[in-house]
Amino acid sequence: MLKILVCVSGGGTNLQAIIDGVKNGSIKETEIIGVICNNAGAYALKRAEDNGIPGYVLSPKNFESRDEFNKAFLAKVKEINPDLIVLAGFLVTIPEEMTRVYENRIINIHPSLIPSFCGVGYYGLKVHEAALTKGVKVTGATVHFVDSGMDTGRIIYQKAVEVMDGDTPEILQKRVMEQAEWIILPKAVNDIATGLIKLG
Ligand code: GAR
Repeated sequence: MLKILVCVSGGGTNLQAIIDGVKNGSIKETEIIGVICNNAGAYALKRAEDNGIPGYVLSPKNFESRDEFNKAFLAKVKEINPDLIVLAGFLVTIPEEMTRVYENRIINIHPSLIPSFCGVGYYGLKVHEAALTKGVKVTGATVHFVDSGMDTGRIIYQKAVEVMDGDTPEILQKRVMEQAEWIILPKAVNDIATGLIKLG
């Protein structure tokens, strides 16, 4: 059984896709043992609660320094002791020490085809705004391992999504979620759990 910890910041639709996958059996041999969220008001926490998954709020805002937060974050993750950490819309930079301790055991979903529209400053709707500003005709999503860089780790899966005339960032975000994110993130978790993708 792969024990996973999911880290979230907002609505948690990717978390929901994983919860649904575990429930309906499309994600096998996986247990969600916790959800960490940096935002106490996030709907993602309600999704965890509704499904009997322990939720923990840990925000840099509640610590005197980023260093203090990073220590508390790592300590909490060690206490939860997951086999895999899934960043599902987690908009907090992962401390470098955590990327070392959990090398090849952290995955992230990013809402573009890396290396386009990724790195510092590219998160959430901003990614889709940038794609529309550039005028690309195809975008998508990427699941990748997390290393000490920003969106630089080894790519696991990507899925392309068409940009349509008249798209707004919100419309494009929804299409990328529906046609890519909610498919490739649960698939990556399942494929890790069942040994198709090796950790490390
Ligand atoms: C998702 O689109 C995810 O790809 C993105 O945040 C959104 C979270 O939505 N993540 C990033 O931009 C990371 N750089 P959700 O809370 O509904 O899953």
